[in-house]
Amino acid sequence: MDKLIITGGNPLHGELRISGAKNAALPILAAALLSETPIVIGNVPHLQDITTTMELLGRMGVHLVVDEKLNIEIDTGTITNFFAPYELVRTMRASILVLGPLLSRFGKAEVSLPGGCAIGSRPVNLHLQGLAAMGADIHVRNGYIHAEAKRLRGCRIVLDMVTVTGTENLVMAAALADGTTLIENAAREPEVVDLANFLNAMGAKIHGAGTDIIEIEGVTALSGQGAHYSILPDRIETGTYLVAAAMTGGKVRLKNTRPDLLDAVLFKLKEAGADITTTDSTIELDMHGRRPLSVSLRTAPYPAFPTDMQAQFTAMNSVADGVGVITETVFENRFMHVQEMQRMGADIALESNTAIIRGRQGLTAAPVMATDLRASASLVLAGLVAEGQTVVDRIYHIDRGYECIEEKLSQLGAEIRRVPH
Ligand code: EPU
Repeated sequence: MDKLIITGGNPLHGELRISGAKNAALPILAAALLSETPIVIGNVPHLQDITTTMELLGRMGVHLVVDEKLNIEIDTGTITNFFAPYELVRTMRASILVLGPLLSRFGKAEVSLPGGCAIGSRPVNLHLQGLAAMGADIHVRNGYIHAEAKRLRGCRIVLDMVTVTGTENLVMAAALADGTTLIENAAREPEVVDLANFLNAMGAKIHGAGTDIIEIEGVTALSGQGAHYSILPDRIETGTYLVAAAMTGGKVRLKNTRPDLLDAVLFKLKEAGADITTTDSTIELDMHGRRPLSVSLRTAPYPAFPTDMQAQFTAMNSVADGVGVITETVFENRFMHVQEMQRMGADIALESNTAIIRGRQGLTAAPVMATDLRASASLVLAGLVAEGQTVVDRIYHIDRGYECIEEKLSQLGAEIRRVPH
C-alpha cells in the first residue's frame, strides 16, 4: 500500500485546475447504460472509483473506449449480462447505481448488496422501496439484490430521508418507466442536477432536479446519438484545497470550478478569516498569512454544509484560533479522523455526533491512517501544518476520490511525496 509523506510548514500558494466531480461521474457512467447509442463523457476525473465503474460496466459486456484526455465512449450495444458482483461492489458502494438503469432498460438486474461502511451503516432500503413502488419484483438472496420488472410504472415516491444515490437510482429508473414519477423529499445535490441534465441531453423528460420534488415523465428510449457530455467540477475537491490553503495561511486560485455550488463552504471559510473572490469558474482564497479563526457548523443535505467537507474543517479547527463545534447529522460514524488527529496533538472532545475542537497553535507529525476517503484527506491537511514528517498510510482511500493529490499539493508548494509500500 502506498503512503504519503508530508513535511508540514509551507503555506500553499499558486493556481490549480479542479477535476470533474467523482460523485457526478459515477451516476452518469451508470446512466450511460440507458443509452441505445454510443455516448461520450468528458471531464471524467482520473480516480480509482472511475476505474472500478469502468470494470463493472466492462464485465457486463459494455464496450468502453478511453482517449488520452480521459473522454470515455460508452457503447451498451454489446451488453451480455446484468450482474454486479460482490467483489466490485464491496470496493465501491456506488456500484448500486447500476440497479435502476439495468432494471428499467433491460428488465432485470442482479446486484450485490453493499456491505457495512466505515462511516455508517448506509443501507439501500430506500432505493429498493422506490423501485418496488414502481412495480419491480425485488428479492434479496445470498447477499444479492435480484430485481425484475417487465416495464417499470411511474408513481409517486416520498423518500423517508434525503438520499443522494437513492434519488439518482430512482431518477434513472423512472426515465424509461411507463408514465410520470414524482420523487418527493429528493436530494438537491448539484450531482443530482448534473445527472438529470445528462439524461435530458439523451432525451429524458426530467423537471425539478435541484429542488426537493423531481418529476420524471417516462420515455420509451434514450439515445446519446454520439453526444458529448462534460461532467461538472468537483465541489468537494475544490473545498478541500481551499481549506488546505486556509489552514496554511496561504493564497490559492482554483480554476475550472463552480463557486455557486459551494455557498455553505465559502461562507464558513470567510467566517474563518479568508478573503474570497470568485468569478463564474474560479475561486481565489487569500489568508494574508493569518491563522484561521475557529468555526462551528452542522452537516446536512445540500444546500447546507456538506458531510464530505466535515473532516477537512475538523482539521482546520484543530489549528484555528478559538473553539469550534462540529455536528455530523448525515452519517452516524464519520469521526474516524478524530483519533488520528489527536495523535498529532489536536485537542478534540467527541460527544456522540459532535466534535468540540479547541484550536492549538500547531500539530506535531505522526504516522496516521484512516478508513474513509474524506477522513484520509483531512489527515493530509493536518500533515501540511504539522511540525515534522507525517506519514499517511492506506492512501488508496484518497486515490478513490482525489486526482493526483500529491502532484496538486506540490504544485501549490507543499512538501509531499508518495512512497510505494
Ligand atoms: N440512507 C438510508 N437508506 C437508504 C439510503 C440512505 O437510511 O436507502 C441514509 C444513509 O445511511 C445516510 C443518509 O441516508 O445516513 C444519507 O445517505 P445518502 O444515501 O445520501 O448517501 P450516498 O448516496 O450513499 C452520497 C455520496 C457520499 C456523500 C453522501 C451524502 C456518492 C457516490 N456518494 O452517498 O460521498 O457523503 O451522498 O452527501 O454520491 C464521498 O464522496 O466521500 C462520499 C461518501
